[in-house]
Amino acid sequence: ETLDASGLFVLPGAIDVHVHFREPGYTHKEDWETGTAAAAMGGTTTVFEMPNTHPPTRSVAELRVKQEAARKAYVDYGIYGLLAEDNIDCLQGLIDGGVNAFKCFMGNTFGNLPSPSTGAMLEGFEIIAPSGLRIALHAETASIMAWRQKRLIEAGRNDPLAHVAARPAVVAAEAVARAAILAEWTGARVHVLHISSALELGPLRDAKARGVDITGGTCPCYLLLDTRDYARLGSVIRVNPPVREASDSTAIWAALQDGTVDLIETDHAPHSPEEKTKAVIWEADCGFPGVETQMPLMLNQVAKGRISLEDYVRFSAEQPAKRFGLWPVKGRIEAGAHADIAVVDMTKTEIIEAARLHSRGKITPFEGDSVTGVPVHTLVRGRFVQKDRRLVAEARGHGRQVTGIQRMPPAVLNHADQTLASVLRRSDQR
Ligand code: NCD
Ligand code: ZN
Ligand code: ZN
Repeated sequence: ETLDASGLFVLPGAIDVHVHFREPGYTHKEDWETGTAAAAMGGTTTVFEMPNTHPPTRSVAELRVKQEAARKAYVDYGIYGLLAEDNIDCLQGLIDGGVNAFKCFMGNTFGNLPSPSTGAMLEGFEIIAPSGLRIALHAETASIMAWRQKRLIEAGRNDPLAHVAARPAVVAAEAVARAAILAEWTGARVHVLHISSALELGPLRDAKARGVDITGGTCPCYLLLDTRDYARLGSVIRVNPPVREASDSTAIWAALQDGTVDLIETDHAPHSPEEKTKAVIWEADCGFPGVETQMPLMLNQVAKGRISLEDYVRFSAEQPAKRFGLWPVKGRIEAGAHADIAVVDMTKTEIIEAARLHSRGKITPFEGDSVTGVPVHTLVRGRFVQKDRRLVAEARGHGRQVTGIQRMPPAVLNHADQTLASVLRRSDQR
């Protein structure tokens, strides 16, 4: 097969470390076929899929169910295991069983998984640290949010902006600071997902300066939308954490440039239109699809001169590969790397229409937006999965779980002699 790429750009495929593909359990929202088809169409060649399915990915048996579901994938994938209050004794099994990373929901979000207490989190970090696997954090403090939402409901608030009031930036920043100190103590590698505020950047920067292996990601919605969009979008814009002030967005753009925020992820979180648009704001599901629109939305920013193409590739492919243990095989175009490629046409303009997206989540806050810069071909390990803006149906099942090189040497274990496991072992010997 030959390809005429004259006038086009060849980029490493995007590596999206934050997608929710909903299978098993919520396949009316998405499944592994529709989710990875959306990725292929969006120039994304590797995804890391989140554990808040039903059942959640909290044990080896549940990991096997997810691996079976993922066999339909068009693109390569990593699988997150859950770190929750009630599965601490399953974590080692998940590590040995082949998860690629962990996810810890510090605050409630879709799926209502039990947020671990700080005690359970600490033990979880101790268990995971020696594996070198990264722990991704939904960094919002459950107790603060529960209190504020209760107060807002008592006061009769039922407008989209009440969602922001229930989850102010301090909710996220407090969680980032707490997780960072646990990571520093245990040597665990952590990643702060979906950074939405200027306030989170302080604790993130401080922890990096102290040598903690902590990374941060943000999503197109926090870069491209702000509170002025709530009136227009209503409950469609509802996402955890919320889209905030224009000043937050400006600070996050700057933090990408100075390396405080390492990468762009999508938090691809599809729901049905009925689930997104409820009369009571507190009942509308949070999140929206993103894996198919990320590259066009961000290339449009390249076309507008807001970032360079080189910087975009750093945030979309190089940093995710490096930080999630896939470097040097994925995330770059050089001898020895996988041919995971997005070929993009920087002159092509498309209108985003949810009805035409391959995701089952047919609702997006970017509906009707015009974007210039489109991935026109996608290859995964040398094979076309998208060609000329069409999904290559025969590539269904080509996707593989990423393996082998993702186990990094552990970060420094500062307090290995004080982990709960080693203290219990010592008391056994007495
Ligand atoms: C996500 C989902 O729907 O799974 N929703 C969201 O608002 N971001 C969960 C999450 O990432 O918090
Ligand atoms: Zn989250
Ligand atoms: Zn998410």
